[in-house]
Amino acid sequence: MRILTGIQPSGALHLGNYFGAMLPAIQLQEQGEAFYFIANYHSMTSLTDARARRQYTLDVALDWLAAGLDSQRAIFWRQSDTPEVTELAWILSTVTPMGLLDRCHSYKDKAARLSPDDLGAVNHGLFAYPVLMAADILMYDANVVPVGRDQKQHLEVTRDIAHKFNHIYGETFVIPEPRIRDDVALVPGTDGQKMGKAYGNTLPLYGEEKALRKLVMSIVMDSRTPAEPKPDADKNLAIQLLKLVATPEVTAATEARLREGGFGYGDLKKTLFENYWNYFAPFRARRAELAGNLDHVEAVLRSGAERARAVAAKTLKRAKDASGL
Ligand code: ADP
Ligand code: TRP
Repeated sequence: MRILTGIQPSGALHLGNYFGAMLPAIQLQEQGEAFYFIANYHSMTSLTDARARRQYTLDVALDWLAAGLDSQRAIFWRQSDTPEVTELAWILSTVTPMGLLDRCHSYKDKAARLSPDDLGAVNHGLFAYPVLMAADILMYDANVVPVGRDQKQHLEVTRDIAHKFNHIYGETFVIPEPRIRDDVALVPGTDGQKMGKAYGNTLPLYGEEKALRKLVMSIVMDSRTPAEPKPDADKNLAIQLLKLVATPEVTAATEARLREGGFGYGDLKKTLFENYWNYFAPFRARRAELAGNLDHVEAVLRSGAERARAVAAKTLKRAKDASGL
């Protein structure tokens, strides 16, 4: 089984990203050949700061390696180190009906959110993005593509494009299956809504102890006194977050104290902070080590790109032969 996913280099990762996307992908690397890449070409559709892109790309690499991506097993690379993918994207674009892209929600939503002054920001890349994504996937004969629900439509577009090409030029591409992470509960943010970068309610994976503690202490609670028993303790926001980072025993004991009463929200948040801080302690140590050895990180990405390119060259040749190029 070949598993492939792309990760946008778009800033600091949070608990939602980790439990919703990273951890499942890292677990999947045991089950087949994993192809994970940093989608820096994709980031150009919305980010135009070259330094920020370079920094975020490095950050994502450090974050994933520190979180347990095994660069021996998984192939991990920077998308732009396999420029063949843009050639395949062109080829695929010639069998992609405009209507298919016109219907894509993510493009429509982004365009709708822009003010009239910013309409110049709706670039062709943003519109054509699903074709590049199709090229990312079809290039590596991926069978399984783990993504968040927001990417479901892009996977359908990929499958349509693959069928269309195969129909016109003969069997060339493997039809990929999406693996939508419905089983991973949405991680709530400090305000109780879905945790997300755009909502300013995130608990980041990495950061200074003081700042992270402050964020945890800012988690929204109701106004019941510490003495009051809380029969609904399992629904408490801090308990839900604690479940992710603490052992089942610690979570159960904390929940029981809250249920009984006499346990204040300040203490509850302290428990959450300690478990959150400790959970990511080994990650922080590995990340610091990697950050001190950037040559190694660069070598990992380069060797990943080489391995990816070997596969890409074969698929591209197949597509070119099939289409008479
Ligand atoms: P954000 O919403 O912070 O901008 P992205 O859209 O970049 O995050 O998401 C990157 C990955 O993390 C996606 O696969 C997405 O499904 C997952 N993800 C983001 N937020 C959450 C969350 N609160 N709970 C679970 N998974 C999430
Ligand atoms: N579009 C994806 C996102 O925004 C990232 C991505 C790019 C991707 N190419 C991909 C995901 C190929 C899976 C497969 O999250």
